[in-house]
Amino acid sequence: MCGIIGFTGYLETKNVLLEGLAALEYRGYDSAGIAFFHNDTINTIKTTGKVSSLIDKVAISADVSSTCGIGHTRWATHGGVSDTNSHPHTFGKVTLIHNGIIENYHELEMEMAALGKFPVSQTDTEIAATLIDSYYEGDAITAIKKAVVRLEGAYAFCILFADEPEVIYCLRNGSPLVACHAKEGSVIASDMVALIKYSREYFVLPELHIARLTKENITVTDLNDNVFTPKMLYVNWDVTAAQKGGYPHYMLKEIHEQPESLRSTIMPRVKNKQLPDFTADGIPDRIFDGINRIIIAACGTAMHAGLVGRVMMEKLLRIPVTVEIASEFRYQDPIIDKNTLLITISQSGETADTLAALRLANEHQATTLSIVNVKGSSIARESDYVLYTHAGPEIAVASTKAYTAQLSCLYLIAYHFALIRGTITEAQCITYTKQLQSVIPAVEKTLNLAEDINKICINLADKEDLFFIGRGLDYALSCEGSIKLKEVSYIHSEAYAAGELKHGTLSLVTEGIPVIALATQTKVYNKMISNIREVRARNAFVILITNGDCKVDASIFDYHITLPELADNMAPFTAAVVLQLLAYYTSVHRGLNVDQPRNLAKSVTVE
Ligand code: M6R
Repeated sequence: MCGIIGFTGYLETKNVLLEGLAALEYRGYDSAGIAFFHNDTINTIKTTGKVSSLIDKVAISADVSSTCGIGHTRWATHGGVSDTNSHPHTFGKVTLIHNGIIENYHELEMEMAALGKFPVSQTDTEIAATLIDSYYEGDAITAIKKAVVRLEGAYAFCILFADEPEVIYCLRNGSPLVACHAKEGSVIASDMVALIKYSREYFVLPELHIARLTKENITVTDLNDNVFTPKMLYVNWDVTAAQKGGYPHYMLKEIHEQPESLRSTIMPRVKNKQLPDFTADGIPDRIFDGINRIIIAACGTAMHAGLVGRVMMEKLLRIPVTVEIASEFRYQDPIIDKNTLLITISQSGETADTLAALRLANEHQATTLSIVNVKGSSIARESDYVLYTHAGPEIAVASTKAYTAQLSCLYLIAYHFALIRGTITEAQCITYTKQLQSVIPAVEKTLNLAEDINKICINLADKEDLFFIGRGLDYALSCEGSIKLKEVSYIHSEAYAAGELKHGTLSLVTEGIPVIALATQTKVYNKMISNIREVRARNAFVILITNGDCKVDASIFDYHITLPELADNMAPFTAAVVLQLLAYYTSVHRGLNVDQPRNLAKSVTVE
């Protein structure tokens, strides 16, 4: 949520900032702004709308050069979407940009008002600028440190002080900031995608540390002025991975990247093409010793991956597994102890609620394992163990390749530790691992259905309500299909366990209402067909998805999508691709902004 970039160096800053903001725009896109030094004076340009609007405004209004500045793309929390509420915010000598929420801003606002300091925007951010300015007596670090004591909430700031041209100060607490120093200068941003052009080597600014960026270097100190030497990290993707690569949208590109992201996530963890192995990940075989309960905590799509993982884990590990919505979890006084394994799943590794669930589990001495895509992210750093998905950067707000990569990690965990626990035999583990590898070519084949799915979606484009139904793994998958579709197409949709329909929801099924019916699981196949007949009897428009070419009575569906045949447990991978394509093409037919759906943003760093 909110993209931040700061640059000081040897390039034209406006260009660096605007390019960086374009790369970060998926983190928030209701307004954007930059501030930069020119002739030792800070110039600020900001506007509502997309980064493209800012680019236009800069082109008209700022034909001046600069080599130091900060930029922001906003996802509004406090205060509506307006030019005034856009960042950067200036108060006195302080100009800053912010990602996060200052929870005690109202109290601080009162305090500042008593001092005769009145911000002009409705944002929590401007209060932070006002507060820092109120403590500023010529020493930036002292002012920042004094403000830290007063600020509650999560924040990442990049700050310019009018007295120090060419220098940027940064601070984080809860919200991410990564930085690098390259030959072009020093860069800091909320996400690696804005840095990759300059360096593949970077570091994560630790919480409650202050970074001081100059052209020549970056120094990091803690709040006691101790110099901190950051650990450098390296990304194994390059600038092209974060571009569209000829696809009209990131979402479509990322859907098509799934064979590769699955290959990169699965294959390094399969020893001799036979058995899962987590030695290189540093996950010990004894991780399940003494564990009597597994909790999976995550949000949105990552939580839906957990729903599929739960079925596989419970079945193979014979340990009770629950899946918790991370934003609810910590308020339920959950039972967590040292015999609990908490698995968090997160593409960004920065989702505030998932991070809070992890911290709660750490406090209770649970063992924590996270499945994360972004290296060095907060969730990865704060977990006992990390299993990285190697999906590469995911830019579209709708999560696709991260989801299937997360599934593959959950399957590998289930297989490996079921073998260690003796709940499956080695021969079974070899068979399952082989099945998982077969998913890679099957997903590739599924992508060939894209054009057929595109045509089917013409029928969905004018609908306002829609249902996904399934049983077992298909129900878990329905939840993902539903969020994907509503997120990018704005069609109201619900996922239902097919057997549950007649306990209430069937009253909503009327003539022509689309029902996407997943029937990939042999064990419940006949029951599923009966449920489809129930909706068909109410004249629903049925899109049926099966695993392999089942003989189905043609009167019960309007369209039948046949997945490449796989073992039942593997069907979630191929079916997920179909559901992603259904969402994607429906959004395209409705003429919507697929990659940046309204009101949403990638990486939800506020609670
Ligand atoms: O970065 P995370 O995986 O923790 O994000 C969790 C959710 O915010 C995310 O999956 C969200 O639901 C997606 N936009 C869904 O496509």
